[in-house]
Amino acid sequence: MQTGTAAPAQRIGVPRETFPGEKRVATVPEVVEKLIKLGFKVAVESGAGEAANFSDEAYRAAGAEIIQGAAALWAASDIVFKVRPPSADEVKLMREGGALIGFVWPAQNPELMQQLAARKATVLAIDALPRTLSRAQKMDALTSMAGVSGYRAVIEAANAFGRFFNGQITAAGKVPPAKVFVAGAGVAGLSAIGTAANLGAIVRANDTRAEVADQVVSLGGEFVKVDYEEEGSGGGGYAKVMSEGFQAAQRAMYAQQAKEVDIIITTALIPGKPAPKLITADMVKSMKPGSVIVDMAAEQGGNCELTEPGQAVVKHGVTIVGYTDLASRLAKQSSTLYATNLFRLSEELCKAKDGVANVNMEDDAIRGLTVIKDGTVTWPAPPLKQAPAPAPKPAAAPAAEKKGGHGHGSSAPLPAKTLAIIFAVAALAFWFIGAYAPAAFLGHFTVFVLACFIGYMVVWNVTPALHTPLMSVTNAISSIIAIGALVQIAPPEAGTAGRPDELIRWLAFAGIVLTAINMFGGFAVTRRMLAMFRK
Ligand code: NAI
Repeated sequence: MQTGTAAPAQRIGVPRETFPGEKRVATVPEVVEKLIKLGFKVAVESGAGEAANFSDEAYRAAGAEIIQGAAALWAASDIVFKVRPPSADEVKLMREGGALIGFVWPAQNPELMQQLAARKATVLAIDALPRTLSRAQKMDALTSMAGVSGYRAVIEAANAFGRFFNGQITAAGKVPPAKVFVAGAGVAGLSAIGTAANLGAIVRANDTRAEVADQVVSLGGEFVKVDYEEEGSGGGGYAKVMSEGFQAAQRAMYAQQAKEVDIIITTALIPGKPAPKLITADMVKSMKPGSVIVDMAAEQGGNCELTEPGQAVVKHGVTIVGYTDLASRLAKQSSTLYATNLFRLSEELCKAKDGVANVNMEDDAIRGLTVIKDGTVTWPAPPLKQAPAPAPKPAAAPAAEKKGGHGHGSSAPLPAKTLAIIFAVAALAFWFIGAYAPAAFLGHFTVFVLACFIGYMVVWNVTPALHTPLMSVTNAISSIIAIGALVQIAPPEAGTAGRPDELIRWLAFAGIVLTAINMFGGFAVTRRMLAMFRK
């Protein structure tokens, strides 16, 4: 495939996952084709995709070889793509000096790390990706899996819940919408909020990181605050352990929510710590019979005191779902997303498209992922050289920049210089227009400049989530042109009555009717849109 002395193309191998109940697979036929375009050969263990509805035939059609048995597959592979960390038996099958890409969780699996190092392996742990690097987001399998899990958590809740999610008025009576409370609005929580809101439920959510409030609202939820001032960000977009005072105030709020809502979905996690216990046994007791809790933190000890990891149990009349394989329960979707994340990583590893992976330790993203290089443990990676802007406040950051843009000259040296030039050019242009333009033009021009300024201020000071209602209300306000029509409809002065005036009056009348529809309709639509945000 390569010309000259280039290294031969490497073979990527995808074994069947051996963890009990795991249905995902590390690549899918659609991605096989793309890997082959990068110059790699691809081998898939027979039956690897079966549980995720990908047949051997589909892989073969995409250009993969099908290999019978794990031993033969591992032996034939230069690079192995996996989902779950390999078992001790699988490590033994690994080729000496081979490469492995998948979830590894080095902090939780020190023994596995030693076993892999002993095989002189190179290991890229997809869970160790520096997620705050914007370039790394396309490879962020944690986010993909959390998104799928959040969706599935709602589906599990709907399955265990005996009622509709949306409110309905039927001939048999009125059905109120279900009330869902989501604890923790990270990636999984936000996915759950969006899914539950789309199903028609009333969704509320809480997180210790105040900056997620806007995101909750934009997905159709209501952010419920804890009545205690404390910042919950622990850095890198993650949470920290909160003070005793905060926890007490949070418990009081959660106890109140537990009494009111039908479904609780908990997703709260703190890196490297057991999951915070947010839902006590007493709160479970206080819930209405038939209510459901889905505890997405079950694997890390659970956010609910009564959760049994891996099980769905009924306690005090409440179904508590503690499944730890939510992503695997939507295997086709999660495998496709995961395979795409690994393909994006493969692109980074093989920029020359020659089928040879180059683990470039100078690249921040690759360095972060690489936990073992040729048998040497390289985990944990040193902190990123250029500290990326902290993940928090994705929505607030642009606004802050824009404020600087209004040029009080206080921002960083370079923008200040650029701004000074812009202002000087603008001032010169204004002087020129003022000196030479006709007076009538100047009046209109002043109004135009002020309108631009007000429009700019209004748009940038409104939360992006509210831009649609803003547009509709602006549209309604624009009906001010009705004033022109009102002026025209005034009766003609005595003695000047005639056909042209009559015509203008009728036209003005039609104009008033049309703008009135726009005006009242616009305000009504805006009201309805804002009501959706107030849910
Ligand atoms: P996670 O799975 O570690 O935590 C889930 C959520 O639980 C977090 O939002 C956290 O604040 C919340 N939480 C923790 N303790 C809590 C408590 N006692 N009460 C209520 N909530 C609590 O986090 P995940 O979902 O993996 O990511 C968290 C955030 O990191 C995301 O919202 C995202 O903004 C950010 N992130 C940024 C990325 C980037 O900048 N490229 C990439 C991925 C995530």
